[in-house]
Amino acid sequence: MVKEATLLGQDASIQIIESFVENQNFIIYPKDFFECFHYLIRFRNPNLYIHASKVGIVSYLLALKLGFPTKFADLMQYAGWVHDLGLIFMPLNIQDSFLRITLSQDSGWGRIYKLHPVVGAEILGKVPALNETPENLTCMILYHHENWDGTGFPNGLKGREIPIGGRILRIADTFVRLVDSPPRGEGLGVKDALFEILKDSKKIFDPLLVSSMIEIEDTLLVWLDLVEKEAEKEVEKIH
Ligand SMILES: [Fe+2]
Ligand SMILES: [Fe+2]
Repeated sequence: MVKEATLLGQDASIQIIESFVENQNFIIYPKDFFECFHYLIRFRNPNLYIHASKVGIVSYLLALKLGFPTKFADLMQYAGWVHDLGLIFMPLNIQDSFLRITLSQDSGWGRIYKLHPVVGAEILGKVPALNETPENLTCMILYHHENWDGTGFPNGLKGREIPIGGRILRIADTFVRLVDSPPRGEGLGVKDALFEILKDSKKIFDPLLVSSMIEIEDTLLVWLDLVEKEAEKEVEKIH
């Protein structure tokens, strides 16, 4: 694990991962629990379900690349499935706003949209096991729209103040929206999407995560396609 992190050539990242592993009392979270919420999203908004499936796999692959244990990578996949849970309780026009990369921060709809991480975290926060560690799933959900430079929401956290899980979701979420075909996304190829991500390194995204994403380009290509096909099959079952 540390050896893998060494490949990144960044001492800081090794320290973060080592201290993370030492301080965690890893809980094995039940996959079924998160699948329930994921399926709930499927019934309410199929596009959001497909989006969440893909954010889940990208988060999983990125966590593994960073050197985190498999149990944590699994948790990141579950977090991807439920990261936009709060959106499904909002009006449909707001739910569809997740399709856009940028959203007017000042509009009334924009202000409501910005509450979705809080709503999702409040719902999942009712489960004590999800709040037991500093890097808990509730915090990942709450902070999945925070930016590295402090310009994100809901709290404007900056740099490593943002939990690593939130930073992983932030980059995975944006990447998926960039590669998805319209109307779900921008329709870029994987390479072009990574180039766009690179432009926002140290602004929106943790630079360590950006370099790791670039290193797994080929893996992303293969898995995104597989997961999208599986998710579309699931959606067809109910439509
Ligand atoms: Fe979101
Ligand atoms: Fe999202």
